[in-house]
Amino acid sequence: MTGIIARYHSWLDLPDLEPVTLGEGMTPLIGWGHWGQSDIFLKLEGSNPTGSFKDRGMTVAVSVARHQGAEAVICASTGNTAASAAAYAARAGMLALVVMPDGQVAEQKILQSRVHGAILVSLDGNFDHALAEVRRAAAQNSKLALVNSVNPWRLRGQETGAYEVVDALGHAPAALVLPVGNAGNISAYFHGFRRYQHGVPQMFGIQAAGASAMVQGRDIDEPHTIATAIRIGKPASRHLAEEAVTQSRGAFLGVSDEEILLAQKELAHGGVFAEPASATAYAGLKRLREQNRLPAGPVVVVLTGNGLKDATTPLSWATSRQYRVCAEEIDGLFAKVLDEAE
Ligand code: F0G
Repeated sequence: MTGIIARYHSWLDLPDLEPVTLGEGMTPLIGWGHWGQSDIFLKLEGSNPTGSFKDRGMTVAVSVARHQGAEAVICASTGNTAASAAAYAARAGMLALVVMPDGQVAEQKILQSRVHGAILVSLDGNFDHALAEVRRAAAQNSKLALVNSVNPWRLRGQETGAYEVVDALGHAPAALVLPVGNAGNISAYFHGFRRYQHGVPQMFGIQAAGASAMVQGRDIDEPHTIATAIRIGKPASRHLAEEAVTQSRGAFLGVSDEEILLAQKELAHGGVFAEPASATAYAGLKRLREQNRLPAGPVVVVLTGNGLKDATTPLSWATSRQYRVCAEEIDGLFAKVLDEAE
């Protein structure tokens, strides 16, 4: 079976429809080591078709939109939702309109929207302004289906991340650590665990310090962080996320941009390339360890997006040695490098 709709159909309560799928889901859950009594696992959501977790929600939202006769899908985005909406709309034979904050989206994500033929609108403002505009536009025009995570079908699809974690471990983990921007995904995981009825982990939502509306308990007018995917000041699913954290006895934590870059580097040096927003979760995991707050048992960190989506940010720390040689110098160089490695 390909895609999360086919695999988890009976859990999603969908109308009888033809799925729009790119084979999303079934992403790897890899062991990352034992930290004291905790077993750390990474859920590699960057392995989804467009390189982020958004595809889980998008297959459901776009399938429903087409089924209901919408002509176009519309979203506000810091890049990943747009890339996913563009790809699934292309698959569905629909138009995608994506509104992004001008100058604040990683180039590779913009490229994804462009190759799939979306209509790009750069808005003078941040993500929160863009979301307000598309909500207004969709409410006024029935031809447009809004596919941000305020669309409940998006969150239903994203619940499948929780189902997969349970299916892989045989039960819910002790804790789940994930990045929080608009606060949809943490809410989806919480409801996913509840619905799947194998227990609910402690939910830890990690934000960039400069965009930490959940941590601070107030909206932020001018959010800032190098993790552009979560540069959001007014999380639309704030109340659902608060419920997830309170009821699971978890917490929201803010981490600095320096911690995010260090986390990205540490993951990369273990073979995992995650974008800065995703590394934010790993930085939160490290903070929880420092504070002795990691529970015993499996702890799952959701790495939401692929590192290739933001090729600029890691250049600040990526310092691999490079050589330019002619053919005769190659053997000597290899001998020298191997010698130094000993
Ligand atoms: N990680 C990545 C890579 C993201 O792109 C996002 C959100 C999040 C985490 C946060 O998830 O919003 O559900 O709390 N990106 C949205 C977008 C806002 O437009 O692509 P959330």
